[in-house]
Amino acid sequence: MDLYEHQARELFEEHGILVPRAEVTTSAKGAREIARRLGGRVVVKAQVKTGGRGKAGGVKLAADPAAAELTARQILGMDIKGHTVHSVMLAQPVDIETEFYVSYVLDRAAGTFLAIASAEGGMDIEEVAATRPDAVARIPVDPAEGVTGAKAAEIAEAAGLPAQTADVLVRLWGVLTREDAVLVEVNPLVRTAQGQILALDGKVTLDDNARFRRERWGASEAAHEGPLEAEAASKGLNYVKLDGEVGIIGNGAGLVMSTLDVVAGCGARPANFLDIGGGASAQTMADGLNVILSDPAVRSVFVNVFGGITACDAVADGIVKALDTVRLTKPLVVRLDGNNAARGRAILDERAHPLVQQATTMDGAAQHAADLAVSH
Ligand SMILES: Nc1ncnc2c1ncn2[C@@H]1O[C@H](COP(=O)(O)OP(=O)(O)O)[C@@H](O)[C@H]1O
Ligand SMILES: [Mg+2]
Repeated sequence: MDLYEHQARELFEEHGILVPRAEVTTSAKGAREIARRLGGRVVVKAQVKTGGRGKAGGVKLAADPAAAELTARQILGMDIKGHTVHSVMLAQPVDIETEFYVSYVLDRAAGTFLAIASAEGGMDIEEVAATRPDAVARIPVDPAEGVTGAKAAEIAEAAGLPAQTADVLVRLWGVLTREDAVLVEVNPLVRTAQGQILALDGKVTLDDNARFRRERWGASEAAHEGPLEAEAASKGLNYVKLDGEVGIIGNGAGLVMSTLDVVAGCGARPANFLDIGGGASAQTMADGLNVILSDPAVRSVFVNVFGGITACDAVADGIVKALDTVRLTKPLVVRLDGNNAARGRAILDERAHPLVQQATTMDGAAQHAADLAVSH
């Protein structure tokens, strides 16, 4: 999950990195007020979770509060690379002498962190890296040792940054590790004409696995996920929306992944990934069915369960109970196999719901669900 620039700025400030004074608003009138508080001249910055805002016209200098209002009016509602601008940050303008680039990223392939730094900041770092790779230093950081003063000095030296930036590099490592981030980027980090080092832009990507202890940023993220995903997340379901028409529920991520493949092989497209995990209760089954059935693109649902520790009769009980609370509007194809499969199938046979059909093999069930989706 990415943070907005103003949220990244807040974190930087909390970790003792110098940032320009700034405030956020969703209205042009608000922008005028803020500009007045900040001393008149301000930089108006679109708050969208994408880079290159400057080039797209989403970062503009305004000379006074009236100009700030006008500029904010232009920027609010603007589309930047498919992101609509709902808020702007107004920041005090900084007298820039030099712009640098610094970031820490998780290098999954190498199993370590990487410090990337360059004395050529401000612009598109990918472009600098492509045209002049020597201008970008890439230094591995051992996660157990972290960025000490000595390591920071090494990074600064390798990238040709002033020694003064070492302190920021150490603090930025603190943001990465103490805030559960997998990426922090400052572009530009600047040296001002007065000789101070300031972070003028920030990108922070938080580790989704740590979301449960980052509730502070939760609300803003929920607004940007799809409604089905938000609903599923609130029920604690492992759900990912896809583009197809066959809804899928399975137990175990591996089984669900192969179910997606088999359905795709049958000429239909999976509408979602949903792993109800082991020990799935009737409530989980009902919640899962509810989320899937409220996707208008879904035309049939395939429940694929291989009973292991969770026996098939328990899953069948869950489906039967779910049928009491969920209004089933689309055909449901159920394949139960493994532990207590026969008892599970008998339970569903007894319930005899007109929209529930059983299949004995995974391939047969997938084909049936795919046919129903295509013909329904
Ligand atoms: N507070 C500020 N004072 C002066 N210039 C700024 C300020 N904030 C941004 N800029 C300038 O605008 C450029 C683009 O802004 P930035 O925040 O990096 O957005 P993006 O990377 O999305 O284009 C920066 O490289 C910097 O030159
Ligand atoms: Mg930038």
